[in-house]
Amino acid sequence: MFFDLRDDLLDQYEYATDPVLQKDLHAWDHMHIGAMISYGRGFSNFGRQLMAHQNRVARDGANFLRYLGFSNRAAKNFRAAMMFHDIGKTHSSYNPSIWALDERPTAEQKILQKKHAALGAAMFESFAEKKPDLIRHPHFKIRHAVTLYHHERVDGEGPQEENVTSLPLFVQVACIADSYDGDRIRRPHQEQRRTPREALDRMLGLEDPRGKYAGAFNRTLMTKYARMKQAE
Ligand SMILES: [Fe+2]
Ligand SMILES: [Fe+2]
Repeated sequence: MFFDLRDDLLDQYEYATDPVLQKDLHAWDHMHIGAMISYGRGFSNFGRQLMAHQNRVARDGANFLRYLGFSNRAAKNFRAAMMFHDIGKTHSSYNPSIWALDERPTAEQKILQKKHAALGAAMFESFAEKKPDLIRHPHFKIRHAVTLYHHERVDGEGPQEENVTSLPLFVQVACIADSYDGDRIRRPHQEQRRTPREALDRMLGLEDPRGKYAGAFNRTLMTKYARMKQAE
């Protein structure tokens, strides 16, 4: 499913009051927030942590858009889309234990981890299949894009192999806000979680110029993000 993606889609509606979204999406969203929270309850509260992460990323990305000069309406619509970006982790074919490895993930395990992006986009596609108003709606395009592309990189090494700079700014904002939060979550193989400074230095490529994030982000955009986070 390929859409004509542009940043101005974010200004074309209002998530809370839009009639198409009220008719075709709000109930689904409500139900799926509940379903995500209770997902994998016996598995170290997987869903609760997932939802908390999605919440933080949605808020942080919306703040970054405002910082970049996007309207408040655009930021709020983005936030409503980002609340679901990792929904693919709850897909029936996806095993969440891939996130609780005792060791650093191998290249193969990293590919499995990132499969959730395409699975999430496929979940939205199948839900909207019989809802033509929803498929045409800018919010659907935005939500589909941030879900499918939030692990893309400038060097094209992401799961869809897209150069993220060919995608709208809001997608790049999704990638940056998601990485920052993800980098600060303590994984079982780490002794302690990274500080904000450590995460930003890694993302800026300052810590290790050949590290995980070298070639991941647009340098100018990443520098602006770091400036915003430092001011917080
Ligand atoms: Fe993700
Ligand atoms: Fe995420």
